[in-house]
Amino acid sequence: MKSVITIDGPSGAGKGTIARLLAKKLGYRYLDTGALYRAVAWKVMKAKIKLDDEETLKKLLDKTDIAFNGDMITVDGIDITSEIRTAEIGELSSQVSAIPVVRQGLFSIQRNICLQGKVVIEGRDTGTTIFPESGNKFYLDAGVEERARRRYEEMKLKDPSITRETTIEDIRRRDLRDSSRKTSPLKRTDDMIYIDSTNLSIDEVVEKIIESLKK
Ligand code: DC
Repeated sequence: MKSVITIDGPSGAGKGTIARLLAKKLGYRYLDTGALYRAVAWKVMKAKIKLDDEETLKKLLDKTDIAFNGDMITVDGIDITSEIRTAEIGELSSQVSAIPVVRQGLFSIQRNICLQGKVVIEGRDTGTTIFPESGNKFYLDAGVEERARRRYEEMKLKDPSITRETTIEDIRRRDLRDSSRKTSPLKRTDDMIYIDSTNLSIDEVVEKIIESLKK
C-alpha cells in the first residue's frame, strides 16, 4: 500500500498548517480538500446558482475544471488561491459541502490523488470516506475558543469586517453543520489517532505525528 496520511478535524484545528509542514518534512504531496469545496463555493457564487437547485449544480460541476498546481488552486484556469480565503466563502463552502452531488463530484479528484501515494490529505472525511484503508489516520482537534482565536488572527487582515464574536459564531455554526450533515459528516473513528492541539505548538503537533508514524 502506498502511503496516504489522513488528517481530519474541525475548522481552525490547524490541519492545513500541520499537513503542509508534515508533507514538506516527509517529501509528500499535500492535499487541502477544503480548498476544493471552497473552489465549488466560489464558482457557485460567480454563477449565482441556488443551492437547492441540484440539477443545475451538477451540470455546473460537470463542466468545471478544478485543478491543483503546487500550492495554487485554479477553477477553469483562473487562479483563485487567495480569493477563496474569505469568511464568506468559508461559510458558503460549508453549505455547499453538505450537498451530495458536490461530494460525489469531488470524490474522484481526491481519491485519484491518494491512489498515487505519498500524500498528506486533510479535511473532514479523508479517513472515513476518501481513503478509509489508510493505516495512518489522525484526528486533529482544539477547543472552540482557541480555534476561533486562530481563525480570527488569520483572517483579520484579509477581512476587516470580522470580529472575535462573529468568528466564534461562524466556527460553532460550521462545526454543527459539518458534523451533522447526512453525507460524510465530520467524524472521529476509533482507528484515528486523536491529537488535541489547544496547548501545543505547530512543531509539537508535527513531532507527535512523526513519532506515531515511526511506531
Ligand atoms: O477546511 P476548510 O475551512 O477550508 O473547509 C471549508 C468547508 O469545506 C468546511 O466547512 C467543510 C467542507 N469540507 C468538507 O465537507 N469535507 C472536507 N474533506 C473538507 C472540507
